[in-house]
Amino acid sequence: MKTDARGWGAFELADRHRTALFVEQESIRQQSGWFLRIAAWETKHRTGYQLFNDSDHAQWLVERLENLRGGSVRATVSTAVIDAVTRNLDAPGESAFIRGLYLVIKPRLLAFYQETLDRADAAANAFDVRMLRRIIPELEEQIEWARNLLDDDADGRAWAESIERALDAAGGLSRTEVGAGTEVGSGARQTGHDACDAPTTVKFTLPAAIVFDNRITDKPIMPHDRKMELSFDDAVVEQFRVFFNEIYAASILATVVHQAFDQNVPWPMIRWFTRHFWDEVRHSQFGAVRLIELGQEPDRCDQTLYRNGVQMPFLHRICYLTLVLEKHYMPRKKPRFELYGNEGDLRSQLFADHDWSDEMNHVRNGRDWLETLLEDDARAVSDIEAETMAHLERITGKPVTSVSPF
Ligand SMILES: [Fe+2]
Ligand SMILES: [Fe+2]
Repeated sequence: MKTDARGWGAFELADRHRTALFVEQESIRQQSGWFLRIAAWETKHRTGYQLFNDSDHAQWLVERLENLRGGSVRATVSTAVIDAVTRNLDAPGESAFIRGLYLVIKPRLLAFYQETLDRADAAANAFDVRMLRRIIPELEEQIEWARNLLDDDADGRAWAESIERALDAAGGLSRTEVGAGTEVGSGARQTGHDACDAPTTVKFTLPAAIVFDNRITDKPIMPHDRKMELSFDDAVVEQFRVFFNEIYAASILATVVHQAFDQNVPWPMIRWFTRHFWDEVRHSQFGAVRLIELGQEPDRCDQTLYRNGVQMPFLHRICYLTLVLEKHYMPRKKPRFELYGNEGDLRSQLFADHDWSDEMNHVRNGRDWLETLLEDDARAVSDIEAETMAHLERITGKPVTSVSPF
């Protein structure tokens, strides 16, 4: 008996999921880089949340691909598609970057997911239907956010059009190198490079200092001992300035996530770094929320620790954040939680509670990942800790007497 071919077979489906996974992971890589260059802290926080959202999607796709014979993602996806999507990292400015990612690449991804869902068979592709019904509304919400953000902003349109053309020339996301059973758009014979005259770009680099708009200045946060001498109400304000300042930790992690893709770091570790990154974005958001409730605006970021961290190699930077800085702040967490409770400031205590809980994971997992990164290395974590202190002395030009100015 002959029957209709409906639904997706495992090979075709795995091919589509690999393409989607490539785009989700590339979105993570690009947003972690641009997190450092986006000027408004509200937009930074929001893209931080969305980066972790993309990390969830990537994780679901990875899990699904494990059932579907897996395979190497970048080795399978069309080179022209890879070129067209990756070039958005080198956008000439913040609006161009957001426009290219959220108003060109993500809508293409949304259409691609929708196409997968539309042809899926409810029984044979049940896993995929379930996954796509979770991903699609989240992606729609992200695109809607960017539309509202860029509504009155004319910047970056030429850039976005160049990404659009490169994707068209690559034959869209549905194209694979082998081409079997895929739709090939017009101009599919051309490569992304030939078909696109993109506006002149500057290669993306990680900035030496976090970029902010003029509301945030690089100035010191009050040292911890001095805060302890203030009245409770004044100390709370200073404390939530420290929370907002955790954007420096998010930024160090953004550099780690961004570079992890070029360092052969396995996905489970990148996945964890995106989580750690998101935690620090949330802690910084705790600061913004509470400061505004207390009648203050976030107005400062002490960039000392970011400047130090970004000058260290990848391995030492992870050690610096997790085993030097986060370990250093750890003893303050419990007394602060108790103090807020004793003073009846339950709103502040709520934030201190979640910060404390997250930080315990950061220190523990930081050590685990360093051990993994040292698997083929003669050095132990303790050696890396000593080398990190040597880097710190070289960067600051003096012996390390205190690891944090605040
Ligand atoms: Fe934190
Ligand atoms: Fe942390």
